[in-house]
Amino acid sequence: MSVSSLPATPAHIAIVMDGNGRWAKKRFLPRVAGHKQGVEALRRTVQACLDKNIRVLSVFAFSSENWARPADEVSGLMDLLAMALAREVPSLHERGVQIHFPGDRSRLSARTVQGLADAERLTAANNKLVLNVCFNYGGRWDICQAAEALRLAGQPITEESIAKKLALSYVPDPDLFIRTGGELRVSNFLMWQMAYSELCFSDVLWPDFDAAELQKALVLFASRERRFGQTSEQLVVRETSPKSGASTC
Ligand code: IPE
Ligand code: IPE
Ligand code: MG
Repeated sequence: MSVSSLPATPAHIAIVMDGNGRWAKKRFLPRVAGHKQGVEALRRTVQACLDKNIRVLSVFAFSSENWARPADEVSGLMDLLAMALAREVPSLHERGVQIHFPGDRSRLSARTVQGLADAERLTAANNKLVLNVCFNYGGRWDICQAAEALRLAGQPITEESIAKKLALSYVPDPDLFIRTGGELRVSNFLMWQMAYSELCFSDVLWPDFDAAELQKALVLFASRERRFGQTSEQLVVRETSPKSGASTC
């Protein structure tokens, strides 16, 4: 039987919300219609995380590489972000969600940047769920900006100092990584932070994702033995020894 020294419920779930385009294509709809349905799936998933007492949810909404898409899709995604901000933030705030938008804002419009900052400020004191909507985010960008911040401050480069400068430094690393849409890759999401995340891939297209699909990933997570480089035997000793504090998320 598998024994884990960590809680069976993840504190932090990271999701690559993939498959919007294929969802739309199957219905002979424009790709942006898939992205719109993707916002609905995100709303369901946030509520499911609140219901299940998940502390942190990080979602990949737009990658550093997504600028390479056709111009009309990129502008559709920018418009959707503005729409979602106006429509979703008040209800997220009411439900106690603390929102962050990790990513490079230098290419976003002044209006969008203002909207992101306003949403972050409004929800800063909420404590039911931390929601990180990673927008114009890339794992490589994140590591580079952390290293650059350390260089400018004249600080040494260590694992700890880099971790403190990363865009998600205010939350623990993801315990569970989920990617929908059937692709078996990370696509430059939380490259540093996912070093020890449990990986879960689903063929479900993101617009079809719901609480039942999340539950399947949680069941899978609970079945995993997280060893962090140790052996199973060491974990059993740590679990049974009253002196040894089990590692926490
Ligand atoms: C993910 O869905 C959303 C973004 C990348 C913005 P896709 O648009 O990549 O959907 P597929 O992979 O083409 O189906
Ligand atoms: C990853 O999906 C980015 C987001 C979900 C925002 P992509 O569809 O861009 O990834 P690739 O291109 O298939 O690797
Ligand atoms: Mg995709």
